[in-house]
Amino acid sequence: MSHPNGHATLEKLRREAIGLNTSYVLANGERTRRIYLDSTASTLRLKVVQEVLDRYLPYYSNTHSVMHFGAKLSTHEYHWVHDMVLKFVHADPQIYTTFFLGSGTTAGMNRVARTLREKRPERDVVLTSIMEHHSNDLPHRKHYREVVHVPAQMAAHSLGCVDLNRMEQALNEHKGRVNYISLTGVSNVTGIINPIHEVAEMAHRHGALIVIDAAQMAAHMPIRMSGHEDSARNLDVLVLSGHKIYAPGSPGVVVTRKDLFADIEPQEVGGGMVDTVWVNRYTISQHFPEREEAGTPNIVGTIGLGAALYALHKVGMEVIAEDETRLINYALEKLSQVKDLIIYGETDPCLCQRTGAISFNLRDFDHSLTAAALNDYFNISVRNECFCAHPYVREMVMLSLAEEAERLSDEELANLAELHRGMVRASFGIYNTEKDVDALVAALHHISANREHYKTLYQRLPSGDYVHNTFKFDHERLFSIKAAVDDLLTH
Ligand code: ALA
Repeated sequence: MSHPNGHATLEKLRREAIGLNTSYVLANGERTRRIYLDSTASTLRLKVVQEVLDRYLPYYSNTHSVMHFGAKLSTHEYHWVHDMVLKFVHADPQIYTTFFLGSGTTAGMNRVARTLREKRPERDVVLTSIMEHHSNDLPHRKHYREVVHVPAQMAAHSLGCVDLNRMEQALNEHKGRVNYISLTGVSNVTGIINPIHEVAEMAHRHGALIVIDAAQMAAHMPIRMSGHEDSARNLDVLVLSGHKIYAPGSPGVVVTRKDLFADIEPQEVGGGMVDTVWVNRYTISQHFPEREEAGTPNIVGTIGLGAALYALHKVGMEVIAEDETRLINYALEKLSQVKDLIIYGETDPCLCQRTGAISFNLRDFDHSLTAAALNDYFNISVRNECFCAHPYVREMVMLSLAEEAERLSDEELANLAELHRGMVRASFGIYNTEKDVDALVAALHHISANREHYKTLYQRLPSGDYVHNTFKFDHERLFSIKAAVDDLLTH
């Protein structure tokens, strides 16, 4: 549901994002405004979130305290954020709960893996996909007998979303043993969107649960966990992370069907989740979310998360999705015109929809050098390497090399493989516009046409990173905690 002024609110949020006007002096001596294309790693902070925190901080108190004014206010708002999360992902509060915990999606997935293993010990297999971030892969590997990485399907020219036939096949091959399918809603590498509700139906038909990694989905498109006409399409568990949805410093978030976390001891124990403790026993609270939130929570981060979600809710995620779809399709079209640019994953939006991210390589050019040149000469911030998704990146690079294999000698192919051991990723948030895409495309045209020149400007370090021969970035002149504190305490 979108607010009647959704577009105007979006424009305000976009204009006021903190960090959009950051400028740096570049290798050519010019000072320009930074273009931030790294939102898949972390989104920028919205001004409204910062201002909400400034308004809150005078009342900041521990949510485990009870009787004083600050504690009452903090506890009330802390719980309001739980309600906001459920509303944001359309999860019926009668059936679902949400709780907050440590380091982003990783903490959430680890908790989910351990809990569901204990809850359904007879089901010792997890299905996931080749497209996953390590946070939606390694926790399952650690706690289950077997993890199956279902491949992505070949679309017209390249890999698309997860292969549903292979998923069904894996469910049949492990009949009665699949605890859950844990699937990313949107890839953090290619931005490719998976058909999560089709997979949910398939999982439920086989008695398996469906867990969704929404780290890259929540900021870009609406999520509907419950209320589907066919209840088999509802989602059982969803995990996301506030720093990917305009609330840096926020906790990780798990939204789950309550019954899946009930009637077993929570994985984390400590203060706040118990009713009574004696020296020889303790009784655990039956209430959600308290029983899953041992210890003092990340209160300030949670308030920031609530502000960000409410602001996006007021815009309407449908409005944001429509806007971002237009932007990513524009970027795909423009990037496909850059000479020698390999874009990974299927690029035809009619066959395969994307949101948030596009990864690529300039042919025969090291991904680290592309990223360094984009930063140092064009003030464009991108991420490179493998984005904590090694198997998926490797698979796509191998596929593109296979296409070259017939034309190249073994040595040329080995060189190319070395240069393309990672990728460059451009990723987008609500504040990015077609102008940012145009700047990226113009920069890539320039680098592509002057590859040899850029190679002479840098040295490759043993780590694989590149360092400019003459230009040095002196970050301490811009900011250091020590200098900032010294300054603030003397003026
Ligand atoms: N894993 C995060 C990313 O995809 C940081 O960039």
